[in-house]
Amino acid sequence: MRNLPIGVFDSGMGGISVLREIKKLMPNEDYIYYGDSKNIPYGKKTKEELEKICLDIGDYFINRGVKSIVIACNTATSAVVDKFRDRYNIPIIGIEPALKPAVEAYKSGKIVVLATEVTLKENKFNLLMDKYKSKAEIIKVPAPRLVTVVEDGITEGAEAEDAIKELFEDIDINEIDSIVLGCTHYIFLKNAIKKVLGNNVKLIDGGFGTAYNLKNILDNMDMLSDKNIDGSIDVVNSSQDKSKINLSYKLLNI
Ligand code: DGL
Repeated sequence: MRNLPIGVFDSGMGGISVLREIKKLMPNEDYIYYGDSKNIPYGKKTKEELEKICLDIGDYFINRGVKSIVIACNTATSAVVDKFRDRYNIPIIGIEPALKPAVEAYKSGKIVVLATEVTLKENKFNLLMDKYKSKAEIIKVPAPRLVTVVEDGITEGAEAEDAIKELFEDIDINEIDSIVLGCTHYIFLKNAIKKVLGNNVKLIDGGFGTAYNLKNILDNMDMLSDKNIDGSIDVVNSSQDKSKINLSYKLLNI
């Protein structure tokens, strides 16, 4: 069991940003990354649609024999993590917008949470927000265009910067305390966001926290690999467009 691969998935390229953190922390594990580019954007689907799509991916991982599944997508986590935990008898790790560290580091002004429409609307995030709303001013900003930009392989330059500028048109940049990157695609845009909003802006994401959580859980269950060679990453993508596989490997290395 301990030397089986770990399954990681997202609607497309976003989850690669989480896999990068996981790989850094656990280089000897083997991974299967499933990018569901055929069904992107998850952020515009209903909860029922997401359940169907994501459980098919979960079943795929079980058939391939994984020891754990990481839902490397805030949107899918908010819609299906409970269903996954009911259905599969292996550790299921999700990701949610990293509001807790943002509130802990909060000084004044606004915490901007960038995420998909589904994440911002679902119960899971609203319960999290209720917990912290007396401690900081939190504003929700849906950012679907940033998903499309990254999915097209664009992480810097005019188009990325334009998509970012558009989001902050009505927000006074001087009033921003921090920005929570509540969608795994946005993590690839950190440099572009800094270029638009300035180097001092605090960007917070849940990638490292998720990797750390996964490692702890596997360690506590005595399920960490005992191999001492660099592990493999097998990238699978649901799209007909074969360039998605190359893009996934490219993003893994930036
Ligand atoms: N990467 C996903 C997330 O973390 C969502 C992108 C999409 O809309 O498909 O929420």
